[in-house]
Amino acid sequence: MNLDAFLQHVKDIERDAVVEIPNCRTVDALRALEARHVKAPLAEGLKQLKTLPAEARAEAGKALNEAKQRLTQRFDAAIDDLKQRLIADERAVAATYDPTIPGPVVPRGALHPVTAVQWEVERVMTGLGFTVVGGPEMETDFHNFEALNIPATHPARDTMDTFWLTNGWLLRTHTSPCQVRAMLTYGAPLRVIAPGRCFRYETIDASHENTFFQVEGLLIDHGISIAHLIAVMRLLLRELFQRDVKVRLRPGFFPFVEPGFELDMSCEICAGTGCPTCKQSGWVEILPCGMVHPNVLRYGNIDPHEFTGFAFGLGLTRLAMMKYGIADIRILNSGDLRGIVPQNRLTGPQIGGCSVRKNPA
Ligand code: PHE
Repeated sequence: MNLDAFLQHVKDIERDAVVEIPNCRTVDALRALEARHVKAPLAEGLKQLKTLPAEARAEAGKALNEAKQRLTQRFDAAIDDLKQRLIADERAVAATYDPTIPGPVVPRGALHPVTAVQWEVERVMTGLGFTVVGGPEMETDFHNFEALNIPATHPARDTMDTFWLTNGWLLRTHTSPCQVRAMLTYGAPLRVIAPGRCFRYETIDASHENTFFQVEGLLIDHGISIAHLIAVMRLLLRELFQRDVKVRLRPGFFPFVEPGFELDMSCEICAGTGCPTCKQSGWVEILPCGMVHPNVLRYGNIDPHEFTGFAFGLGLTRLAMMKYGIADIRILNSGDLRGIVPQNRLTGPQIGGCSVRKNPA
């Protein structure tokens, strides 16, 4: 290499390094650039110095040294400058941060309306000496139908459109199979309630869901009559609504009770004037009930000559709708939280966006 070429090479090193400086956003990036574009090539230049003719070395060495000094200063200044800028940026951010601004309000959770009414029912019924029991959601034909006096050929099966499972079991269509399980497990006398999820192969609309909740009630003892049934049902509804609710009792047919009743309550959505939720009737079927059929007692290994009992199947989903003024059943399974106003646990959930109309007391 001759002197001119060497001097040009030193100039190139300097130029390459300098053009890159403004692109560095951090001190580390600047240091890396300095190592790559300054220190390494200059060290290389020092080696090449020896290849130059002896008389050219002094000038070449001087040029190299000066370039090194200029570049070192350039980088030191750039690093200082960048540090100052970073500090200034931090200060600017700090100046806009106000620690006294209240944080975002995190909405508090609330119970699902069905859970809230379920707990209410449990509170009232356990107060009357009932025990809370459960049962599987996947049931056998025997527990869901057969032992409830609904044999395979019985037309009542048609009223409970059933999800049959490939293993021959089914998704329980009501909580009544819990009656059978409780009788077989505990015998008589017996006082149980069994809340739980039920399934029917239904077309979904404002008042029908394929997945809904019931709470079964069963009381078996010596000398139990319809008078006991009505008294307990009245008390339950009065406690749940904290006032006397307008009810009507109609004969109802369920193979597992005799006699059977439909206990309807005045629709809370429209105050009994008629709306889609109550199918314009002003009444909502909420509490089917009746005296336990002797055959059912027999299936439960209980002697119908010694014991009698009553059973009811309270529609928890319907009850939640009535209690919180929810006009559309689909909201309850949707997981859509819009419009739900979280509230104190003690007072239970409140559903906004749905009209809550109070009946005259
Ligand atoms: N299991 C019945 C149903 O879901 C309701 C019911 C329960 C009726 C207990 C009478 C007694 O339709």
